[in-house]
Amino acid sequence: MLVFIIYVLVVFCRVVLAPLTRQRSYGNVPQPHAILYYSQRTSNGGLLIAEAAGVSDTAQGYPDTPGIWTTEQVEAWKPIVDAVHAKGGVFFCQIWHVGRVSNTGFQPNGQAPISSSDKPLTPQIGIDVEFTPPRRLRTDEIPQIVNDFRLAARNAIEAGFDGVEILGANGYLLDQFMKNQVNDRTDEYGGSLENRCRFSLEVVEAVVNEIGADNVGIRLSPFANCMESGDSDPKALGLYMANSLNKYGILYCHMVEPRMKTVGEKCACPHSLVPIGKAFNGTFIVAGGFDREDGNNAVAEGRADLIAFGRWFFANPDLPKRFELNAPLNKYNGETFCISDPVIGYTDYPFLETTA
Ligand SMILES: Cc1cc2nc3c(=O)[nH]c(=O)nc-3n(C[C@H](O)[C@H](O)[C@H](O)COP(=O)(O)O)c2cc1C
Repeated sequence: MLVFIIYVLVVFCRVVLAPLTRQRSYGNVPQPHAILYYSQRTSNGGLLIAEAAGVSDTAQGYPDTPGIWTTEQVEAWKPIVDAVHAKGGVFFCQIWHVGRVSNTGFQPNGQAPISSSDKPLTPQIGIDVEFTPPRRLRTDEIPQIVNDFRLAARNAIEAGFDGVEILGANGYLLDQFMKNQVNDRTDEYGGSLENRCRFSLEVVEAVVNEIGADNVGIRLSPFANCMESGDSDPKALGLYMANSLNKYGILYCHMVEPRMKTVGEKCACPHSLVPIGKAFNGTFIVAGGFDREDGNNAVAEGRADLIAFGRWFFANPDLPKRFELNAPLNKYNGETFCISDPVIGYTDYPFLETTA
């Protein structure tokens, strides 16, 4: 069924809502205002990827980000998912664990955040959180985290989502295992590329076994060094993951463009995702710094099947329509991306008809 849906997307609508943390899920519970926010951004047949949702109580690192590990959270997602479906959208839930991008204040019993390593993260520009040095996960603890992802995927399906996107990008826990700037382990989860990718692939396998490969995507950013998670050979990492993912037959791979060194900073870059996209057998989604023209070119040149837009979609709830008409876009205001207001900078961006 979902393969058919993606076929429809590829033929009719290539504009995807990128996963975007909004920090308006008070107490880690999705709120009713998200119903309007997501339904505003839904078009018939369009794919939306929800903001990252924590897989457990150790997964959180920012105020008011949603979770998907409790019954209350699952129930709270249901009307949001229903609203997207009512408008014909396809809705995937991004599931994450922040790893060391956290502090004791977000952790159960004030414990240290967990990671592949005990290397601390230095303060990051634009993130108003002080990080606590992490605790290196013991080898025997890793199956529990894999299981948390599996249960989160099950919960997402229970909430009504069409599938999940595993967050393996942007310097969070899975990236902290894949990248050798962070991972200094000497067990079977460290050292070689195969070992560093083992944890992510175990998560993929567990999630596929739980909800089926057609309902699973993954987001990766091999070239980025967000949260001090860089790799010495990102092309080899991307290719290794693409080839390994083929064995599980997952629906899509969503990759962040090499030009995005951090989440919002675009820079000149000689690297390309093309060889990695060619190696991957499923639908290939790319994100990072795209506008209408650039996205059209990427699709026309076969560099991607679908394009995920982040900041332009914050500010333009009707982005696919504006692209179709080549209409002007509302500008985004970075200062309201992550405030906690349930309306301002969230659901108050005007639609085309009401734009002055
Ligand atoms: C405020 C903000 C929140 C974001 N939250 C997430 C997130 O929850 N998960 C994720 O994978 N990426 C997240 N991103 C990254 C975006 O999905 C996207 O890759 C990035 O904004 C670059 O795309 P753009 O140039 O189209 O905005 C976030 C970006 C911003 C600016």
